[in-house]
Amino acid sequence: MCESIPAMILGTGRAVPDKILTNHDLEKIVDTSDQWIKERSGIERRHILEDGKTNSDLASLASQRALEDAGVKPEELDFIIVATITPDYTFPSTAAQIQAKIGAVNAAAFDISAACSGFIYGLSIADSLIKAELANRVLVIGSEMLSRITDWEDRSTCVLFGDGSGAAVLGPAEGNRGILSSYIKSDGKLGNLLIMPGGGATHPATHETVDKRMHYIKMEGREVFKHAVRAMRDAALHALDLAGITSEELDLLIPHQANVRIIDAIASRLKLPDEKVYINIQEYGNTSAASIPLALDEARRTGKLKQGDLCLLVAFGGGFTWGSALIRM
Ligand code: UT7
Repeated sequence: MCESIPAMILGTGRAVPDKILTNHDLEKIVDTSDQWIKERSGIERRHILEDGKTNSDLASLASQRALEDAGVKPEELDFIIVATITPDYTFPSTAAQIQAKIGAVNAAAFDISAACSGFIYGLSIADSLIKAELANRVLVIGSEMLSRITDWEDRSTCVLFGDGSGAAVLGPAEGNRGILSSYIKSDGKLGNLLIMPGGGATHPATHETVDKRMHYIKMEGREVFKHAVRAMRDAALHALDLAGITSEELDLLIPHQANVRIIDAIASRLKLPDEKVYINIQEYGNTSAASIPLALDEARRTGKLKQGDLCLLVAFGGGFTWGSALIRM
């Protein structure tokens, strides 16, 4: 039997809004301080999308940059997979909006909802499609406008989130490159710890849901923190185990950027020195599904991640969901 060919990353792109909201700006909105935010999360500023622009506008820009980087034309795409919890609409999908905006006339397009782990879920699906020879070119996007579902009166959450988009084009691997292993998991029993209760079909928008501020992110931060550390650590080790690779062999860890203390705990468990751990949370805050593709593109374009390097992606988010992907770039 022929061995199936995994997917590899052909190109990446990112787009972030120009408007910046600093911790000092937030001090004027809620009872918080730059010092508290930096010490407890590592965040210094976040980018916020201007009114009138949509998630798919920003994601289309990130996608065009990824396609250009990959040398792939939009009409060559077989699939567009968008990981987001802040879609343009409940339906139609944001993926379909992007398909129209970038002219990917031959692609099937759909969204996935796996919160901060969404990009890794998307990579895993793209890898399966390519291995099964159902696709030759897949665009995976992680894109969020979290500012639109942030409660700017709730200091326990509003200091954490930001907006951004990142994208990757995947195709069949060459040589020893490609996705060596991926691992995705979820546990719906814990969904209430991180949730936007309003706006779905359970609590559609009414005056009451708006008055109760149900259309915003609600998070039990301390509980989520504990689960995130454990699940990300386990997922990282699992992806390494599946590929028979040790953490010493890694060139770069790109973790979901939710809290620098979570990242430090995972890096320490994997015994990775600082220079092997990518951190940009200070610039963007937590951008959910966009955080890993934003970091991946930054790392590639700044030369931190080079062809042939071994890179481990790991994430945790609402659902709960978590996952990891080990990639030879
Ligand atoms: O991306 C998906 C996954 N998400 C995560 O992984 C996020 C996980 N959670 C976290 O990153 C952290 O729990 C937070 C950064 C959200 C919070 O840090 P913490 O160390 O867990 O703080 P806490 O919630 O235990 O709050 C400590 C204190 C409380 O005051 P008291 O009760 O000790 O008097 C809060 O009221 O800090 C207070 N506090 C704040 N103070 C100033 C909470 N938010 C703020 C704030 N500014 N913005």
